Amino acid sequence: MKSLSGIFVQLALASYALATIPISSVERKTNLPFIPNKFIVEVDTAADIPGKRSDEAPHAHVLRSLTDRGIGFRVGHEYNAPGLFVGAAITLNSTSDVKELENTPGVQAIRPVVLYDAPKPVYSHVVSGQGDPAVPPESQSTHILTGVDKLHAQGILGAGVKIGIIDTGVDYTHPSLGSGFGQGYKVAGGYDFVGDDYTGSNTPVPDDDPLDQCAGHGTHVAGIIGADPGNEYNISGVAYKAALYAYRIFGCEGYVGDDIIVAALLRGYSDKLDVLTLSLGAASGWTEATGAVVASRIAATGTVVTIAAGNDGQFGAFFTSSPGNGVNVISVASLDNTVTLLQNVTVHGSAHPPITYYSATPVPSTAEWPIYATSNDTTIIDDACDPLPDSTPDLSNFVTIVRRGTCTFVQKIGNIQDKGGDLIIIYDNGNGFGLINTGGDEEAAFIQAADGEWLVSQFVAGTGVTLNFPQHGASVEFPDPTGGLISSFTSYGPSNDFFFKPSVAAPGGKILSTFPVPLGSWAVLSGTSMATPFVAGSAALLLGYKGKSAAVGLSARSLFESTARTIASDHTDEGPLQTAAQQGAGLVDVYTALHTETLVTPTQLILNDTAHYQGTQFITIRNTGKTVKNYTLTHVPAGTALTFEPGTIFPADGPVPLSTDYATVQLSQTSLILFPGQSWPISVHVTPPTTGDPTTVPIFSGFIKIQSETEITHATYLGLKGSLRDVQVVDNTDVTFGFDLPALIDTSGSPQTGPFNYTFVGYDWPLGLLRLAFGTTVLRFDLVKSDIQLIPTLNPRSLEVRAPVLERDFFSFPHGKPNTFAQVAIVGPLLEVDYVPRSPNGYYSTVEFTNEFANGTDIPNGNYRILVRALRVTGDITQEKDFDSWLSPIVGFWAPSDTTSSSP
Ligand SMILES: *[C@@H]1O[C@H](CO)[C@@H](O)[C@H](O)[C@H]1NC(C)=O
Ligand SMILES: *[C@@H]1O[C@H](CO)[C@@H](O)[C@H](O)[C@H]1NC(C)=O
Ligand SMILES: *[C@@H]1O[C@H](CO)[C@@H](O)[C@H](O)[C@H]1NC(C)=O
Ligand SMILES: *[C@@H]1O[C@H](CO)[C@@H](O)[C@H](O)[C@H]1NC(C)=O
Ligand SMILES: *[C@@H]1O[C@H](CO)[C@@H](O)[C@H](O)[C@H]1NC(C)=O
Ligand SMILES: *[C@@H]1O[C@H](CO)[C@@H](O)[C@H](O)[C@H]1NC(C)=O
Ligand SMILES: *[C@@H]1O[C@H](CO)[C@@H](O)[C@H](O)[C@H]1NC(C)=O
Ligand SMILES: *[C@@H]1O[C@H](CO)[C@@H](O)[C@H](O)[C@H]1NC(C)=O
Repeated sequence: MKSLSGIFVQLALASYALATIPISSVERKTNLPFIPNKFIVEVDTAADIPGKRSDEAPHAHVLRSLTDRGIGFRVGHEYNAPGLFVGAAITLNSTSDVKELENTPGVQAIRPVVLYDAPKPVYSHVVSGQGDPAVPPESQSTHILTGVDKLHAQGILGAGVKIGIIDTGVDYTHPSLGSGFGQGYKVAGGYDFVGDDYTGSNTPVPDDDPLDQCAGHGTHVAGIIGADPGNEYNISGVAYKAALYAYRIFGCEGYVGDDIIVAALLRGYSDKLDVLTLSLGAASGWTEATGAVVASRIAATGTVVTIAAGNDGQFGAFFTSSPGNGVNVISVASLDNTVTLLQNVTVHGSAHPPITYYSATPVPSTAEWPIYATSNDTTIIDDACDPLPDSTPDLSNFVTIVRRGTCTFVQKIGNIQDKGGDLIIIYDNGNGFGLINTGGDEEAAFIQAADGEWLVSQFVAGTGVTLNFPQHGASVEFPDPTGGLISSFTSYGPSNDFFFKPSVAAPGGKILSTFPVPLGSWAVLSGTSMATPFVAGSAALLLGYKGKSAAVGLSARSLFESTARTIASDHTDEGPLQTAAQQGAGLVDVYTALHTETLVTPTQLILNDTAHYQGTQFITIRNTGKTVKNYTLTHVPAGTALTFEPGTIFPADGPVPLSTDYATVQLSQTSLILFPGQSWPISVHVTPPTTGDPTTVPIFSGFIKIQSETEITHATYLGLKGSLRDVQVVDNTDVTFGFDLPALIDTSGSPQTGPFNYTFVGYDWPLGLLRLAFGTTVLRFDLVKSDIQLIPTLNPRSLEVRAPVLERDFFSFPHGKPNTFAQVAIVGPLLEVDYVPRSPNGYYSTVEFTNEFANGTDIPNGNYRILVRALRVTGDITQEKDFDSWLSPIVGFWAPSDTTSSSP
C-alpha cells in the first residue's frame, strides 16, 4: 500500500464557473485514472539483494520471487537500463497482492500506471490541401522572432543531429517530411509502441512502422522541427537537416500509459539520440511521476529532453505538467505568434479596398455574390437571433451580412440557413476581432465592425456591390493582438516542490506546420505542444554548431535560459514583466544562445518559500570571448504573481493577477570587467517584497541582467513569500457543492450527516467526495473505530461525544520511520495515493469505498469512521500538525454475511 506514487487524480469537471454543483451530477465511481492493478516496479540494482542469483537481472529476481509465492501477474514492458531505470510494468491478478509485491526484497518503488491524455491543441485548423493561397513573405515570423533565420543564413541547420519525437507518430509520406522512412530519409527511424487501435486501456500492438495518418499531432510537431523549405507555404523546420526518429505512443485516439512513455524514453536513449522531445503531459505540480523521473535521469546524462509545460494556464499557479516537471527537463512555455494569416474578400461595384476576414484559408467559392443584410440597423444588438421574417428572399443567392451579439453564432447561422443562406459574413459588435467558433459546415467569415457597417450601408443604399473570395493570393499578415506575449494557456509553475517550471518559452500560438496527407497536409495548431519541438530543434542547432557531446547537451538549458528575452505581461508598456512562473527565463533567442561569449551559471536562482528560504545565491559570469568585456549588472523585477484569491484557500484562476510589490536585490557588485577566459562570482541577495497581501501567497521573480557592450544575458530568480506548509490542502468549504467538504455521499445521493448503514450490495456503499485545494505528497484514507478519540483539523466538532483527551495521546505519527503510519490507531488502511495534484476551482475527486481493506481482505461488519489525511506541502510526515485531517460520521458496514465480494 505504501507507495502508490504519482497518481494523477482525474478531475471531474463540475459546471466550471457556476456557483455550486448539484450533487446529483456527481458520478458514483472513483475518478482516479490509473490502470487497475497495473504498476511500474522499480528495483534496486544493488548486488546484495537476498536470494538473488548472481547471473540474474535484478528485475528478473523480483519477478521470480513473486512466482515462487504463487502470485499471479503478467509482465508488460521490462526496463533494464542500469543507472536510469531497472524494473518492469506488471499487472497483478489481484489488488491484494500489492502488499506482497512491496514486501519483495529488492523492490525500490511501486508506482501505478498513470494515463496521459492524447495531446490536444488549444486551437486547431486544418488548412486545405495543394493549391491553397500563396503565403505571405513573413511566413517565417517565428524564426525571425528567435534568430533562427539568422542561423539558417549561416548554414546552421542541425545536420548530423538525431531527434526523437515521442508522440502520435509521423506521416513521413508528406513531401515536406522526406516522402519516406528509414536510413537516408529525414525520418530515419523509429518504432510504433502501440498500433492504431491502442486507447490506453487495451493491449498495445507494436510494430516497426511509426506512420501516423489518423491523429496528426506528431506530424505537426515533426514539421516544426524538420519541414523542408520549398513548400507551398514557404515554411521550414527549425533544424530541417536533423534526422528524425518517430516513437509512436498514442493510437488514433485515447490515452497512453506511463509504462509506454518510459519504454519510449529508454528506447530513445538506447538508440543514442541527441534530443528527445515530448509534447504531452498531464497537470500535476509534482516532479515524481515515473515518466518525469526517467526523463530527468536521461536529461542528466546530457541528452537534451524537451517537454511541454502544459496548456492549463486558466487554472493558475503550481500546475505545470508532468513529465515536463522532471527536474532536469527543459519544460517549455508558449509564446503567441506575432502575426496571423488572414484572407481578403474583394469588393466589386465600388472603389472600396478589399476586406480582411478572420480565416487562414479562403472561403471556397469563386462566384461574385450580391449581399443581403439581415438588418439595416448596424446598432441592432440581437441581429438574426429570431427566425427571419417571411419577407426574406431566398438567401442562397446572396452573401448574408449579420451582426454579432446576444445569441450564439450557431443560432444566427441556423436562422439564416432556414432561409437558404450558406455563405455568411458576421461583423463584430465591438467584442473584438479574433477567432470565432461557428460550429457548423456553413461558410462563415468574420470581419471587423467598420467593414460590416460599410457593407450594410451599401445594402441599404442599394448600390449593388458584390463580393468575391479570391482562392489565391489574398492572404494577409495580420498583427495578432496577443502576439509576442506568453500564450494565456501556458501552465503556471513552479512545481509544488518549487522547481523552476516552465524553463523557457518558444513560439507555440497559431503555428502553421505539416499534417498527415490524408488529413489535409497542413494545419495551424496552438499549444505548448508546438513550442516544445521548437526548443528541441533549437537544441539540435546548438549541438550541430558546437558539436555533439554530453557537455554541450548539459549546457543547453542554461544557454537558452541565460540568453532568453524577457516578455511583458501586456502590450501597454505599463504592466510588469510576466511572472517567471509562466514565462520561465523568457523567449528563447537561439542565435544569441549559440553565439554568446558570456556564460552565466546557474541560470535558475531558486529561493524556495520563506520557510526554506535560500535568499543568498551565487552566480558565476565567464567571458569566453577574445576581448575584454565591461559588464553592468542590474535587477529587473517581474510581476509578483498573486497565486491565491485573497483571504481564501482557493488558488487564483489564470491569468494570475500580477502586482508591482517587488523583491529587492543586493548584488556584490554592479559592474565588472572580465578579461578573455576570466570568470568571476557575484553574490545575489534577494529580500522578499515587504508590501502586499500575504494571503495571496505571492510568488516573486525577476532577472539579474548582465549587460556588456554587445551582449545581454541574465539569471532568473523565483521565490515565494510565505510558507507552503501554511497552505491548506483539503477543501473544507461549501463553495463547490453548497455543503461542507469532504463528505460521504450515501445511497440516496445525499451527504451523510449522521450514522448510516451500508450493505455494500448493489449501489449501497458510501462515495467519498473531496477537493484538494492544493497538492499533497500523501493522501490517505483509513478506517478507524467509531469511538476514536481524535480531533481532526478540518471538522474538530465531528464527534458526537468526545472526552477531553490530549491530542498527542491518540494521534501520533511514527518518528524516524517515515511513511508507515504504524502508530496511528487505525482499524486498517483503505487507500493511499501519493503526489496528488490539486483540483482546480470547480473540480473535485471521488473515491468509491467498498467493504474491503486496501489489501483486499473483507472489512468485518461493524461501526466505523473514515479518517482522511493529507500532508501539507513541505510538511513533515512524522508531525501530525502538518496534516489536514477529517473524520467522517459513523459508517455502518453491514454486508450480508453470505456475500464474500458484493462490492461493485
Ligand atoms: C493469473 O491470471 C492468468 C490469466 O489472466 C492465469 O493464467 C494465471 O493462472 C493466474 N495466476 C494465478 C497465480 O492465479
Ligand atoms: C520564403 O522565406 C524565405 C525566408 O526563409 C524568404 O527569403 C523568401 O523570400 C520567402 N519566399 C516567398 C516566396 O515568400
Ligand atoms: C487585403 O486587404 C487589406 C485591407 O483592405 C489591404 O490593405 C491589403 O493590401 C489586402 N491584401 C491583399 C493581398 O489583398
Ligand atoms: C432595408 O434596406 C433595403 C434596401 O434599401 C430595403 O429594401 C428594405 O426595405 C429595408 N428594410 C427595412 C426593414 O427597412
Ligand atoms: C524547497 O524546499 C522544500 C522544503 O525543504 C524542499 O523539499 C524542496 O526540494 C525545495 N525545492 C527546491 C527546488 O530546492
Ligand atoms: C564600463 O562601463 C561603465 C558603464 O558604461 C563605464 O562607466 C566604465 O567607464 C566602463 N569601464 C571601462 C574600463 O570601460
Ligand atoms: C445499523 O445496523 C445495525 C445492525 O443491524 C444496527 O444495530 C444499527 O442500529 C444500524 N444503525 C443505523 C444507523 O441504522
Ligand atoms: C488486511 O488488512 C487488514 C487491516 O489492516 C488486516 O487486519 C488483515 O490481516 C490484512 N489481511 C491480510 C491477508 O494481510
